[in-house]
Amino acid sequence: MTVPDIKTSLPGPKAQALIDRDRAFVSPSYTRGYPLVIERGTGATVEDVDGNVFLDCAAGIAVNSTGHAHPEVVQAVTEQAGKFLHMSGTDFYYEPQVRLAEELAAIVPINGGVRSFFGNSGTEAVEACIKLSRYATGRENIIAFLGAFHGRTMGSLSLTASKAIQRRGFGPLMPGVYHAPYADCYRCPIGLKPETCAAECLDFIDHQLFVHLVSPDEVAAVIVEPIQGEGGYIVAPDQFLQKLRELTKPHGILLVADEVQSGMGRSGRMFAIEFSGVEPDMVAIAKGIASGLPLGVASARAGLMSWPPGAHASTFGGNPVSCAAALATIKLLRSQLMANAADVGGHMLAGLKQLADKHALIGDVRGRGLMIGVELVRDRHTKERATDERDAVVNAAFRRGLLVLGAGKNAIRFSPPLVLTREQADVAIRLFDESLREVTASRR
Ligand SMILES: Cc1ncc(COP(=O)(O)O)c(C=O)c1O
Repeated sequence: MTVPDIKTSLPGPKAQALIDRDRAFVSPSYTRGYPLVIERGTGATVEDVDGNVFLDCAAGIAVNSTGHAHPEVVQAVTEQAGKFLHMSGTDFYYEPQVRLAEELAAIVPINGGVRSFFGNSGTEAVEACIKLSRYATGRENIIAFLGAFHGRTMGSLSLTASKAIQRRGFGPLMPGVYHAPYADCYRCPIGLKPETCAAECLDFIDHQLFVHLVSPDEVAAVIVEPIQGEGGYIVAPDQFLQKLRELTKPHGILLVADEVQSGMGRSGRMFAIEFSGVEPDMVAIAKGIASGLPLGVASARAGLMSWPPGAHASTFGGNPVSCAAALATIKLLRSQLMANAADVGGHMLAGLKQLADKHALIGDVRGRGLMIGVELVRDRHTKERATDERDAVVNAAFRRGLLVLGAGKNAIRFSPPLVLTREQADVAIRLFDESLREVTASRR
């Protein structure tokens, strides 16, 4: 099969017909950047309803970690579906949920015992972390970071500070939330250079928040994405996470790593926080954990997760079919795909960095493993955000058969399935190069 292979104008006739039906009946709050209507997928390729074939560097927002329809995941799902679909793991017991909790205890970067709570999505994983932080500490305040995305239910939305539209019209949000500047080193919030910085942006917490707004002994947790996802694929330097741990520990403040997007092998390590050597108290996991089936997990230091029966639960959480998919996914990540993410990711990062020599539109290229962001700017000196150009490049890539997604105001994210090969990465880079050239030429 040739990948990509675009046979019709986009959207093709069948895709257009479905989009028209969607428009009439589906919530208009969804953000569809381009008109892709999927029929089926294999590995890192996707075929639409009109027979067009795309190279997938979006993976359903960083979810299809093992690629589309990986045979081992499909087999695990099919076998479990043939046994039973649901029994509510909050009221009864079944092996896939227990085995997954055991597996998570082995891979989550917390020493000395780990327990897991199961929900259905990233936002539920974060909600569980919020509730457990408050319950375990008896404190109510939480610190999050500007640019963060933690979900859209009312608790996690209160922590989210990515785009104002995500919060607009939904207030009042949860009280007791404070936001601090994130280590966006390309746009350092305090004007320092990454080479010489010691994460001074965190002094805002110590010197401002703790002095003027909230006493540290009333803060339950700090929640951080080791790599901001929706915010623009911004990689926090190791010293930022290390200093955050040093800042939180003496005050008994819990450190929650939101690894919903950066976790499950995508960064080349199982969890992105591992690069810094920092041990969090809780980890929120979702997206890539079950290769596309709905599953969200809050894993915590065992001693912390001591809430009593009835304190928190979810009817569907830890669905047996999702757990079976997660077990097959973890096996594949450990045996091959995490290493592939590191290898192909490094290759892709280098290739995308080379494009910056040709395209003035590229301001920054950053990432770890197969979590790579390219930030577009109108002027490298002023760093004016090239938001319209970003949207145009994403669309030009789509028309060429490359699926990528925007992130933040002006970045493009490459979050392919972790089965992506070096050859496929080269195709993606070539198509991205052509798309940048087209958009640059159209703006002259
Ligand atoms: C870091 C992070 N946390 C939480 C969420 C929320 O996940 P979900 O959309 O599954 O609720 C997301 C989703 O993009 C995310 O990237």
